[in-house]
Amino acid sequence: MTAGKVKKAVFPVAGLGTRFLPATKAVPKEMMTVVDKPVIQYVVEEAIEAGIEHFVFVTGRNKAVIEDYFDIQYELESTLKARNKNAELDLLSSILPKAGSTSFTRQQEPLGLGHAVWCARDIVGNEPFAVLLPDMIMKSEVACLRGMVDLHAVSGGNVIAVEECAPELAHRYGIVARGDTVGDGFRITGMVEKPAKGTQPSNFFINGRYILQPEIFDILETQERGAGNEIQITDAMLKLLKQQDFTAYHYKGVTYDTGAKDGFIMANIAFALDRPDIRGLVEADLKALVAALK
Ligand code: G1P
Repeated sequence: MTAGKVKKAVFPVAGLGTRFLPATKAVPKEMMTVVDKPVIQYVVEEAIEAGIEHFVFVTGRNKAVIEDYFDIQYELESTLKARNKNAELDLLSSILPKAGSTSFTRQQEPLGLGHAVWCARDIVGNEPFAVLLPDMIMKSEVACLRGMVDLHAVSGGNVIAVEECAPELAHRYGIVARGDTVGDGFRITGMVEKPAKGTQPSNFFINGRYILQPEIFDILETQERGAGNEIQITDAMLKLLKQQDFTAYHYKGVTYDTGAKDGFIMANIAFALDRPDIRGLVEADLKALVAALK
């Protein structure tokens, strides 16, 4: 088990996005835009801010556009050049990952998050790695994964980001049990995926950011199905907890679940209000809308 540098991040992007049909019939949910950037871009930027050097996407059928998004678009760029659209060209080059720093592998069957992570095992190899669930996009002073990487440099082992939720919402998430305080977080003493209502060991839910040791892959290899009849990463982590430390990073920023309609809309509003170019207009329109509600 190492506290070595976390250089690779896994993005499970194989989900069908059924909550966003009909849009997701042809567009992967990770490509839906919050203001003017696809959701996946926000999550990749969080990883970059945390020092991640290699980006592993676990895709599925109908997700090829994600691979295209992280590539050069020659026709578009030559047209922009011909029209002297330098700002747009700069924008495109600023988000282009370094050549060779992305990998794409497919989850052939929708067997669950644990199975999706396991599909990345050959690319990750024998080193600690991050997992970022692209549905969850975050807004905070210190990026969530950055805080986790800093905690991991001290704690070693495995680090999971958690937030507090209302007790009546705990059954929607993976929930951890709280042990002793460690730095910005605490030692995790147990965890459960989607606990039955009223049985949760705490109100700290797993918010979709993980730093895991590679031994998780051996466990996932034989992990049986759990909640929702899917292979769950939380069940595999609970097994690894018997051999290795898990530390919770208590994330204090805001998280938007863009996989839910309300979270997606709120993310659009919140990120639009952060943008100097459109803030004024959006704010005025929002105020008018809210006033009309009364
Ligand atoms: C997954 C994880 C769960 C976590 C959640 C955060 O669940 O299995 O532990 O709390 O993401 O969004 P899902 O949303 O895929 O049901």
